[in-house]
Amino acid sequence: MEQPTAVSPWLLLLFLVAAATGGSRAQTDSKGFISIDCGLPGKASYEDATTKLSYVPDSGFIDPAAGSNMNISAQHITSQLSRRYHDVRSFPDGARNCYTLRSLVPGNKYLLRAAFLYGDYDGLGRPPVFDLHMGVNYWKTVNVSNLGMEVTAEAMVVVPDNFVQVCLVNTGTGTPFISVLELRPLKMKFYPQVNLTQGLVLDYRLNLGPETGTVRYPEDPHDRVWIPFMDPKEYLEISTKQTMQTDYDDFEVPKVVMQTAIMPLNASRNLEISWEPVPQPRDPSPGHFIIMHFSEVQILPSGIMRQLYVSINGVKVSKDVTLSYLGAGVVYNGDHPYRDSYYNISINATINSTLPPLMNAIELFFAMPTTNLATDSRDVSAVTAIKARYHVQRNWMGDPCVPKTMAWESLTCSYTIASPPRITSLNLSFTGLNGDISPSFANLKALHYLDLSNNNLTGTIPDTLSQLPLLTLLDLSSNQLSGPIPSGFLKRIQEGSLNLRYGNNSNLCTDKNSCHPAKMKSRLAIYVAVPVVVILFFVSLTITFLLLLRRKNPGSMKNSINPRNESTNYNHSSLGLETRRFTYIELKKITNNLQRVLGKGGFGYVYDGFLDDGTQVAVKIRSQSSNQGDKEFLAEVHILTRIHHKNLVSMIGYCKDGEHMALVYEFMSEGTLQEHIAVRDHNEACLRWKQRLRIAVESAQGIEYLHKGCNPPLIHRDVKATNILLNSRLEAKIADFGLSKAFNRDNETHVSTNAVVGTLGYMDPEYQTTGRPTTKSDVYSFGIVLLVLVTGKPPTMNNPQTMNIIQWVQQRLSQGNIEGIVDVRMHGDHDINSMWKVADIALKCTANSSTDRPTMTDVVTQLQECLKLEEDCDDSGTNDGFYTGMNSNDLNWRYDAYPTNRSMSMSESNTTMEHNFGRVPTMDIGPATR
Ligand SMILES: *[C@@H]1O[C@H](CO)[C@@H](O)[C@H](O)[C@H]1NC(C)=O
Ligand SMILES: *[C@@H]1O[C@H](CO)[C@@H](O)[C@H](O)[C@H]1NC(C)=O
Ligand SMILES: *[C@@H]1O[C@H](CO)[C@@H](O)[C@H](O)[C@H]1NC(C)=O
Ligand SMILES: *[C@@H]1O[C@H](CO)[C@@H](O)[C@H](O)[C@H]1NC(C)=O
Ligand SMILES: *[C@@H]1O[C@H](CO)[C@@H](O)[C@H](O)[C@H]1NC(C)=O
Ligand SMILES: *[C@@H]1O[C@H](CO)[C@@H](O)[C@H](O)[C@H]1NC(C)=O
Repeated sequence: MEQPTAVSPWLLLLFLVAAATGGSRAQTDSKGFISIDCGLPGKASYEDATTKLSYVPDSGFIDPAAGSNMNISAQHITSQLSRRYHDVRSFPDGARNCYTLRSLVPGNKYLLRAAFLYGDYDGLGRPPVFDLHMGVNYWKTVNVSNLGMEVTAEAMVVVPDNFVQVCLVNTGTGTPFISVLELRPLKMKFYPQVNLTQGLVLDYRLNLGPETGTVRYPEDPHDRVWIPFMDPKEYLEISTKQTMQTDYDDFEVPKVVMQTAIMPLNASRNLEISWEPVPQPRDPSPGHFIIMHFSEVQILPSGIMRQLYVSINGVKVSKDVTLSYLGAGVVYNGDHPYRDSYYNISINATINSTLPPLMNAIELFFAMPTTNLATDSRDVSAVTAIKARYHVQRNWMGDPCVPKTMAWESLTCSYTIASPPRITSLNLSFTGLNGDISPSFANLKALHYLDLSNNNLTGTIPDTLSQLPLLTLLDLSSNQLSGPIPSGFLKRIQEGSLNLRYGNNSNLCTDKNSCHPAKMKSRLAIYVAVPVVVILFFVSLTITFLLLLRRKNPGSMKNSINPRNESTNYNHSSLGLETRRFTYIELKKITNNLQRVLGKGGFGYVYDGFLDDGTQVAVKIRSQSSNQGDKEFLAEVHILTRIHHKNLVSMIGYCKDGEHMALVYEFMSEGTLQEHIAVRDHNEACLRWKQRLRIAVESAQGIEYLHKGCNPPLIHRDVKATNILLNSRLEAKIADFGLSKAFNRDNETHVSTNAVVGTLGYMDPEYQTTGRPTTKSDVYSFGIVLLVLVTGKPPTMNNPQTMNIIQWVQQRLSQGNIEGIVDVRMHGDHDINSMWKVADIALKCTANSSTDRPTMTDVVTQLQECLKLEEDCDDSGTNDGFYTGMNSNDLNWRYDAYPTNRSMSMSESNTTMEHNFGRVPTMDIGPATR
């Protein structure tokens, strides 16, 4: 954690680590591209002759049983035809067949392009018409009307998940097929019209000026395809050899595209582009997003100026634009598509302009609503894992529930308006399932009904299934299951909340057979079950899992616990005086008879309360149902009376009244950090980066105080997002000291106890192996908190395979993609340097070996620097000064200019000159040349 420049060695290191461990079979190449030659047999990829991009076969992206490889007919193969069009994959079976592109970053922008060249591959001479979907949203109808002509579909979208599916939907008008599928990452700033609920579908993208030569990768690092457009009968080409400065704008049009432009042939006229929108299958009068790119290609002497404005159907939509030499300017409609039966875009010189207008490039798009919600992603991962585990042979492709008409066979879903559909029933009876019952079934949390009867399932019944809260019927009959009926089921059966069918499983221990004496067994099970359930319930109260592992070495543990320390310090008579002691009666009064539950804490419920003087407090009452937590309770009282710090939650009082034990805390109105991070809705108020950074600094200070300010130092042992509380000013305080342990006084660097405690996902792996917590175990857990703050992700994910947040972040950073890890709900509202730095700190905190981790003091210092970066960044102003909005005719057209330094003086020129521009004949935008 030396300086921010330590970032690149890190990157290299991460990259090496990813390479050494084989990575996670990333589908993207080093640029983040995916280039698939659909229908290419075998495993070998090849390099495209013009772009030098490597094209891979499609087998890794699609269900092996889906579709078949076909060659186009020889007569359509010409020497110029790229190899990727020589074969296709065609899908005679199934209403919907989907490609799945993985290794994406949720919330990032991508360009997807599919190409279709029929080439009479089936010898029928009848090109099909079919639909293309992107995930659960309609993208385009592919109408291949010409045997030998390529049809392409291109869309730019924000992907909500770490994968995207491209589906070919059979609409009864021919067999769907596909030649090429490509994915390219875009920068987040590109095409501001593209967001989570709206994508853009390309109509035309024209490079104005040149007559030949398509521009794509590598001239366009994002591999957009720019089609040359020029008509010497109507336009004059002008160009420059100088390098344009286009990297600053929101589009980064390739320099070579901006180096050419068209002007009217007759210098006294305007530039005009007219077209009639072609009705689309799902939109008879489609609206357009129009993006026009401008750049001055001539050095203009002083007093000479090129100034223009854009009007559409006679209405001026842009302000007066003074072009800057080699700079970039763009006029576009940002918020709504322009919708009319006829388009006539006119670019006129202003009255003061001494030169005729020009234009370098134009892009036209349709809007693509992406508002359909896909099935809940946890359900999708669970059912996908089930499909893979049992090789389910049904046509399970695309999203399980959406669209309704294509929901997967054998399952049903619930649909509500505002939230993603859930899978509510699954019937896999008579499906030839064998092996164990997969744990993934228990991840289908909305299941009401699960039928696995009449299969060859073996092994025991997992108790986790009994935890499915809504499950009312589970049919396991006619399998080869063995072992007892787990206690969770017995309880739910007894309650009458679950109907379990388990007949015809010869090895199952039920009343009628002899694994155990039958009647005794089931009674016993219930008696045993009740305490087990109570304990389970109790553990779940902590919202987290306490991992209680008994160490095999009682000797060492005896040595390290200091009995004197325990007995004296945990004795309530020695508690500090400033802490108030309450009776249980008083607590009932304060909490208005335990009326309002604020949450569930380490060993019981936390209630809302008011002291006599009106101070709002939180009262944590130890649950009486168990002796568990007694020690923890006393530990916490003990610690809280001793330590005081603005970033540690403070205790107002406690209660030790016979059986009753309780703690009275200051009230933290904003609840836990976890609640703020786990907000699922993409739009709901979500912590901004600066707020997160402050919370990080403040909680780090709290932990540092435990380590440095307390004598002996304290190890918290359960640092996590649910133990960071926020008050009304969103100030962070560390809470829950129930597991905290003091260092031994005799200068040891660790404490030995009999149990490894903490929360999965946050727990230091080194501590888990050694069983000895150190202050560096807290540093590790805090590193995880930082990663959660940056990414908004939980510490462990299972989508599709289980992965911890460290791996997840490392994987993305190894591709140099810092934006890829950033919580998209912050809407890019962050300084990239502070983000880098925090990610770097977090990864150092979570180093495998505790000796490589910084101390909390280092962490605090570094985080304060990050916060300073962020604040400085704010002070310099977020307004870039270039943007001007322009309201005209209810359309919000924008003009953004990104001048270069060289051109600054230009806008000063004030020459007045009369122009009388005539009308240029209509330019028809015909089928794009190839
Ligand atoms: C397609 O053509 C290649 C050779 O160009 C051949 O190896 C392959 O078997 C053909 N595939 C089909 C499905 O006919
Ligand atoms: C496909 O295109 C052809 C020719 O452009 C047109 O005649 C036909 O109606 C279209 N089919 C569909 C289903 O849109
Ligand atoms: C996406 O942009 C459209 C058009 O500007 C807007 O109506 C919509 O609310 C935006 N959606 C999100 C999620 O920001
Ligand atoms: C189930 O297992 C039995 C015995 O091993 C076998 O005879 C039967 O074919 C299996 N059924 C299925 C559907 O796999
Ligand atoms: C044209 O130039 C004159 C003189 O400098 C200035 O007053 C006027 O505002 C300019 N008009 C436009 C439309 O820029
Ligand atoms: C642009 O110039 C043309 C030709 O001089 C003229 O007919 C047209 O009205 C002008 N457009 C606008 C919006 O001023």
